[in-house]
Amino acid sequence: MRALEAFAPGKVILLGEHSVVYGEPALAGAIHQGVRARAVPAKRCSLKAPPNVSSSARALLADAFEKAARACGRPAVELSLEGELPVGMGLGSSAAASVACARVLLAAAKKAASPKAVAAVAAKMEEVFHRKASGLDHTTSAEGRLILYRRREGQGAGTVRAVKSPRPLKLLIALAGRSRSTRNAINLVEERVRRWPKRYERLFKQMGLLAVEGARAVEGGDLEALGDLLNVGHGLLSSLGVSSAAIDELVHLLRARGALGAKLTGAGGVGGAVIGLYYEPEPVIASLAREGVRCFGCQLAGPLAL
Ligand code: MEV
Repeated sequence: MRALEAFAPGKVILLGEHSVVYGEPALAGAIHQGVRARAVPAKRCSLKAPPNVSSSARALLADAFEKAARACGRPAVELSLEGELPVGMGLGSSAAASVACARVLLAAAKKAASPKAVAAVAAKMEEVFHRKASGLDHTTSAEGRLILYRRREGQGAGTVRAVKSPRPLKLLIALAGRSRSTRNAINLVEERVRRWPKRYERLFKQMGLLAVEGARAVEGGDLEALGDLLNVGHGLLSSLGVSSAAIDELVHLLRARGALGAKLTGAGGVGGAVIGLYYEPEPVIASLAREGVRCFGCQLAGPLAL
């Protein structure tokens, strides 16, 4: 058998993180940066952990991989992972690793690797990493495009609608230091929901509506409306308690530098990633990078601008 390779992209959530865990729709897209998995023939099915991971992260990864390997009939390969995606920043690094592993395992087991089949195997790993995950992160990575996603309670896979854009949908992604784990952020929100269910249910409903309106704004090419939705979305995420001074500072910086809208993306926490929507983010990326802000660009949808 030849060495097998597969790439899986990271993701950004435009609207609907956290509320998606409670069954509301969310709008998310794949980015260029991601994780690559490579498999070589071996006596038993295993994953070589990447260097520089802590012993607890190594144990979690081994446990997650074991679940995916079992779902694919444990083909006789050894996998390794590499990637340029910042880890623990809300950009879907664990989901991309799960999807890349799923693609290679399915190929090694000579099984069909449709986005649905890949997502089903990746879900086994994400359940170990995040416990109460909605499935949004790995589904976005497996689909590799901008989607409106909705979790279906009690069912393995959520519903997916592809969202097309008539114009380039470009973002600036800035990093505000390492976030708390996704699992911690989900637990923090869960604790508030347990104490004040009615209030948080109302907030989640609003966040779901923003995601649906966001999909409509993208499809209508109305980036100013989308920018406003991102700003409102950030306000609601702050009210869930998942933003921080470092994140808010970056959000305000991007708005001051002309963003049509800016918000945190992903689980949030102490740090993490912030997105800013721009018609042309490139000059802002260049000037912020000169000032020492860790940032880069991505295009989520629309005609590729050369
Ligand atoms: C994390 O990227 C997104 C969350 O909504 C968790 C999930 O959807 O599983 C916070």
